[in-house]
Amino acid sequence: MTDTTNRTQPPTVAFPQSRSCPYHPPTAYAPLRDNRPLARVKLYDGRLVWMVTGHTLARALLADQRLSSDPDHPGFPAPVARFAEVRRRRTALLGVDDPEHRVQRRLMIPSFTLKRAAALRPRIQRVVDERLDAMTAQGPPAELVSAFALPVPSIVICALLGVPYADHEFFEGESRRLLRGPSAADSMDARDRLEAYFDDLIHRKQRQRERGDGVLDELVHQQLRDGELERELLIALAIILLVAGHETTANMISLGTFTLLQHPHRLAELRADPALLPAAVEELMRLLSIADGMLRVAVEDIEAAGETIRAGDGVIFSTSVINRDESLYPDPDTLDWHRPARHHVGFGFGIHQCLGQNLARAEMEIALGSLFERLPSLRLDVPAEEIPFKPGDTIQGMLELPVTW
Ligand code: HEM
Repeated sequence: MTDTTNRTQPPTVAFPQSRSCPYHPPTAYAPLRDNRPLARVKLYDGRLVWMVTGHTLARALLADQRLSSDPDHPGFPAPVARFAEVRRRRTALLGVDDPEHRVQRRLMIPSFTLKRAAALRPRIQRVVDERLDAMTAQGPPAELVSAFALPVPSIVICALLGVPYADHEFFEGESRRLLRGPSAADSMDARDRLEAYFDDLIHRKQRQRERGDGVLDELVHQQLRDGELERELLIALAIILLVAGHETTANMISLGTFTLLQHPHRLAELRADPALLPAAVEELMRLLSIADGMLRVAVEDIEAAGETIRAGDGVIFSTSVINRDESLYPDPDTLDWHRPARHHVGFGFGIHQCLGQNLARAEMEIALGSLFERLPSLRLDVPAEEIPFKPGDTIQGMLELPVTW
């Protein structure tokens, strides 16, 4: 990394840190917000890496091929110790650079288009209605994460991929351990178990006489049979799709609900005019920035913002800081869907921009819209300060959300 020790530097911020309010960035990130567009942060092992904090620079660098997302590169930043070991596994999409990334992405794009997501809307609505029926039959009160926010995206991604939802306790538990297990060994064990699970599922799909209609069925039969896709890659693809496909959206539904309940005037406005839902979802994506820390490593020297990012330097993008760049979003800490949240980087940007964003938007709109329409008196069942949320080293969201109506 460039030696700038002679210059006066703002205090080095440790990354990642936990939020004190689940929908605002950690207060200790304030110096990052004061030092756009490029700062530096210290990782758990004392290593200094670049932190991109300005919106314009973030989009330029996320589209720059001199930054790699290959976790096997020795300079790739590990935000937590467990990540450093788990990442030495076969990865798919996220973790792969062009030209290989382009080949993998092309394979997946037809299953995740806007049109495909639109066609899934009636199915998503059915899933949402069924979960709300079950929740209201048993309550009030209810724990919204387990009763609603997690099962909705989990059922939807299972149906889309062709994974039996009956196995959900297994894969939800293993995904949790993979993303925030207590130790590296624990996360690696979760990865092993998910690999074994998909190896077995793929075997079963190969033996089936009648082809299922999931994305994995399609890949197994067309690609694996023709020898175009290695089994190891197919398993890596299945894991990223399943894990990214339920955890993230579940967090947005739980944290989105919490945030709206904390903003009663905004919620009343949304209830009065459901046509505002798409703008509200976009604004929640900007404000909540739940995937806070996209990781890259420089593979060539890059001149940026008067600094030189050297080949081998780690580079991190904090979505929560970038999405509150006041040059683009006036009054950035407020929830306001009348100030368009366009161009936020909550789904990333560049070649790795979220593959599932069309699906995620459809799920969030239907889940939040139906929840508040069906339960007009929905409210928190305990004081907001007592509700546990996720620590800073993983995707942000609520651990539990006790509600009543
Ligand atoms: C609201 C929910 C979601 C959020 C906030 C989210 C966020 C993100 C972000 C920030 C990235 C880019 C990461 C980077 O560049 O380092 C990403 C990539 C990705 N997301 Fe999502 N995501 C969500 C839902 C989904 C869903 C439903 C799927 C379904 C399969 C999905 C699949 C993926 C995949 C496969 C990638 C990697 C794409 C690539 O490398 O080409 N995500 N997501």
